[in-house]
Amino acid sequence: MDAPQDTKYAQGGPRDRLGRPLRDLRISVTDRCNFRCVYCMPKEVFGADYQFLERKALLTFEEISRIARIFTGLGVEKIRLTGGEPLVRRNLEQLVGLLAGIPGLDLTLTTNGSLLERKAAALRQAGLKRITISLDALDDATFKRMNDVDFPVSRVLAGIEAAAAAGLTPVKINMVVKRGENEADILPMARFFRGTGHILRFIEYMDVGHTNGWRMHDVVTAREIVATIAREMPLEPADPNYQGEVAERWRYRDGSGEIGIIASVTQAFCRDCTRVRLSTEGKLFTCLFATAGHDLRALLRGGASDTEIRDAVAAIWARRADRYSEIRTEQTAKLEKIEMSYIGG
Ligand code: GTP
Ligand code: 5AD
Ligand code: SF4
Ligand code: SF4
Repeated sequence: MDAPQDTKYAQGGPRDRLGRPLRDLRISVTDRCNFRCVYCMPKEVFGADYQFLERKALLTFEEISRIARIFTGLGVEKIRLTGGEPLVRRNLEQLVGLLAGIPGLDLTLTTNGSLLERKAAALRQAGLKRITISLDALDDATFKRMNDVDFPVSRVLAGIEAAAAAGLTPVKINMVVKRGENEADILPMARFFRGTGHILRFIEYMDVGHTNGWRMHDVVTAREIVATIAREMPLEPADPNYQGEVAERWRYRDGSGEIGIIASVTQAFCRDCTRVRLSTEGKLFTCLFATAGHDLRALLRGGASDTEIRDAVAAIWARRADRYSEIRTEQTAKLEKIEMSYIGG
């Protein structure tokens, strides 16, 4: 393999048409999931006869790791593994081990937590640094209705504890808030995680994909969420940890920790978006709401050198002008966008 380390992109890598550098690579390792969250993989669409990707279509761990190294040569500093549910991909810790060998990388993973009790220690040992776990409610009936596979809250909580015990910290918890489903759980979730050191983040329900039937009316806004919590537990805004951080940070005034709000609908953060997404089958998407990707697998399997792949990626990035969340309307929500379960959020 030739090392993609010449001086061509020495100034921190390529910039897109809006001047944004490339810093984060989100890699989906499977399009499958053992949950059927109503806002992501509704059962009517993702039923027994749904055609998931075939095994040979998936990038191998070696292919993923090669791509990851090429991207770090272009300025990527953070890699997040996603799915579907990443932990349903067999031996995922082997991939973590390969990626952990890349120096200076912030390596993390977003999971539904269902398999974490079993896997947290091995992931940590393989070199994973931290983790984000999705949990949409503390109330069992609500959570089961949302994951739609009868999965109990207690087992996700056990996964969270296993992750913390293994040192995958800080643990972040993602709660997607959908009106009429789980807004009654905002306060119980905030009370529960306050003071634990885990960072709870509330996510505005988004119109990803085109199967979840999104309507603006279903979005519980960041403003409503903050007001709900602050009425009982006073909050103050905190500075971002880094430019382009997705979550807006709020700190409890009594020093008992912080929460985050991801307000992609009411406060778009495209201006600082440095993220690119790689699908399970090796397509590169320059926006979560893209309708088409660029086939890197064809380059990989067609014998392209690292330098050729790097130059192709740099050219894709240089053409990028995506800012979907800034231009979203009820009409754009109906576009045939890629599914969240395919591209991993
Ligand atoms: P850290 O804060 O570094 O831990 O990562 P993160 O918040 O970027 O990662 P996470 O996977 O937890 O993402 C949280 C939520 O933000 C998910 O629902 C994502 O889909 C959403 N999100 C992440 N990146 C983007 C983005 O570029 N655009 C939009 N619209 N949403 C995003
Ligand atoms: N809107 C907002 N967040 C979503 N997620 C999945 N689908 C949606 C949606 N439609 C969240 C998951 C996970 C993260 C990666 O994205 O719950 O926490
Ligand atoms: Fe739910 Fe995540 Fe699975 Fe989608 S990928 S169904 S959000 S657990
Ligand atoms: Fe980035 Fe697209 Fe999300 Fe905007 S909508 S923040 S451009 S991924």
